[in-house]
Amino acid sequence: MSRQLLVRPQKTPLQGVVSVPGDKSISHRAVMLASLAEGTSHVRRWLPAGDTMATLAIVQSLGVHIDIDKRSDTAWDLTIEGVGLHGWQAPTQPLDCRNAGTGMRLLAGLLAGQRFPSVLDGSDQLRKRPMRRITEPLGEMGATIMAENGRAPLTISPSPLHGLEYRMNVASAQVKSAILLAGLYASGETRVYQPGPARDHTERMLQAMGVPIRVEGDWVILPEAPDGGWVLRPLDLTVPADPSSAAFPLVAAAIVPHSQITIAGVGLNETRTGILDMLQAMGAELKIHNDHLSGGERLGDLTVSFSELHSTKVSGDTVVRGIDELPIWAVATTQAAGVSQVSDAAELRVKEVDRISVLAGELRKLGVEMMESADGFAVGGPLRLYGGEVDSHDDHRLGMSLAVAGLVTHGNTLVHDAGCIADSFPGFVEMMQALGANMEWLH
Ligand code: S3P
Repeated sequence: MSRQLLVRPQKTPLQGVVSVPGDKSISHRAVMLASLAEGTSHVRRWLPAGDTMATLAIVQSLGVHIDIDKRSDTAWDLTIEGVGLHGWQAPTQPLDCRNAGTGMRLLAGLLAGQRFPSVLDGSDQLRKRPMRRITEPLGEMGATIMAENGRAPLTISPSPLHGLEYRMNVASAQVKSAILLAGLYASGETRVYQPGPARDHTERMLQAMGVPIRVEGDWVILPEAPDGGWVLRPLDLTVPADPSSAAFPLVAAAIVPHSQITIAGVGLNETRTGILDMLQAMGAELKIHNDHLSGGERLGDLTVSFSELHSTKVSGDTVVRGIDELPIWAVATTQAAGVSQVSDAAELRVKEVDRISVLAGELRKLGVEMMESADGFAVGGPLRLYGGEVDSHDDHRLGMSLAVAGLVTHGNTLVHDAGCIADSFPGFVEMMQALGANMEWLH
């Protein structure tokens, strides 16, 4: 989408209490799994973003009835009539995941277990992303998936599945989830080894639905199905606010002088809070209040205040727990004293775009020298940024990161191709405006 976002230097502090939309990972999973439950599920504060609405439309096209109460443009309440694990109906055309890697990889696991053929496809951007990481383990489980050069479209033919013991070489929640979801349809036990703490929303949701998945050390184990197969209980869930979305206003408040903001009801699942650790390590003033559990997930209100930041080094598990937040963390490092550095983050190169080289190229236009390495980058700060024209490259998180950078530039920043922000964060600009941020859509 070719919308343009204009950001002016922020001369006043950011202040206020806001909420951000529901978690994208949980929203994808909720609509998929509830559709396969026996009975009616209620999912509140579901995220109506580009990526998740693609998944919703796919599930509807598989014959599932979903009643949608559009509470607001950023939160929908869904009532989903589950059809049971074998109740999906054969689609009549290719299923369009748009830009959503999570949608495609998780649905591939579920569709591999169906008794009908299907084709999963998506945008040109999604067609460039690596799919062998799921087609190979699913193939080892007996699935028949054709993918030219390991890329979408994925053509899936029905075949019986059996359990698998699989060692992932990258800590990917999408790969883990695709295998576990296919495992629901497989004979025998399914075991996945994860080399790092990949987000565990699939495991938690399946447990809440009555599937006794267990974790033993670094292994996630789905036991053999009982006679007659698994039966998923319906979900009753309020989706927590997405910590990955909260990261943008959090960093904005940490770098705009004298700011103090609170973001309410943010998901604090330990596999997702790497960005909080990274910011705290840089000296950011961050407080969690009202810490509680809801629907098997930890939630809390986050307050962050501006402070002088210093550099930090990030690697290992923190990277896994904050992989999607590294672009906005990079913006924070431009304002931190010293050389900040991230390594072990090669996965950034296979996200919506190569988030290392594309971000380096765009931040350079604002005066940031980001040094690239194969598995990360380094930034020496604090830097004086200049305004300029930058481009999201149709990557929502890069679009929002560049917009936040624009708040601390000298001169206006124009973010081209910023409509993709709605792939994960509808209402981003309006929420930032509510905090007093000087940004607006041009058209
Ligand atoms: C996601 C997993 C992560 C993350 C993505 C969402 C998920 O990807 O980057 O935005 O919902 O499972 P990987 O599994 O490729 O690490």
